[in-house]
Amino acid sequence: MNKFVVFASVCCVLLAGKMVLTAPQGSPDAAVAPRSAAQDVQTVRYYSENNGLDGYKFTYELSDGQIRSEVGTYRDTKDAEGNIVKTLFVQGSYSFVGPDGQTYWVNYTADENGYHPKVGTGPTGGIQAGQDAPIEGAAGSA
Ligand SMILES: *[C@@H]1O[C@H](CO)[C@@H](O)[C@H](O)[C@H]1NC(C)=O
Repeated sequence: MNKFVVFASVCCVLLAGKMVLTAPQGSPDAAVAPRSAAQDVQTVRYYSENNGLDGYKFTYELSDGQIRSEVGTYRDTKDAEGNIVKTLFVQGSYSFVGPDGQTYWVNYTADENGYHPKVGTGPTGGIQAGQDAPIEGAAGSA
């Protein structure tokens, strides 16, 4: 009896797995959205501010778990000749849920010395829903 239950369970799991694996191939949207063609992703939060003069900030969150927030501010830095120049300092974060169900996140800054990412996985550590990128570069501490 127990052997039959185990056998039946294994068959169900295998069948379910086969159905999940083969279903997207017949979908016309499979090439465009292989993860879930039926998923209708909505914008759940959006904010953008950019007057074209002194930096910008934006944040968006999508219903599939994607979050991105970025702030750009100008700082005074010195060029090769020692002249003070305005340099854009960017600070941001993004995270998304991968096909494996895992949350991937990246926090980054970009300045006169390049792009500086910090990468991680898991529900904590990265940007959270409702959060905005902090404005740490605004003080001009180059
Ligand atoms: C990543 O950025 C978010 C907000 O932008 C912050 O709350 C979090 O602490 C940062 N994580 C790390 C490891 O620096």
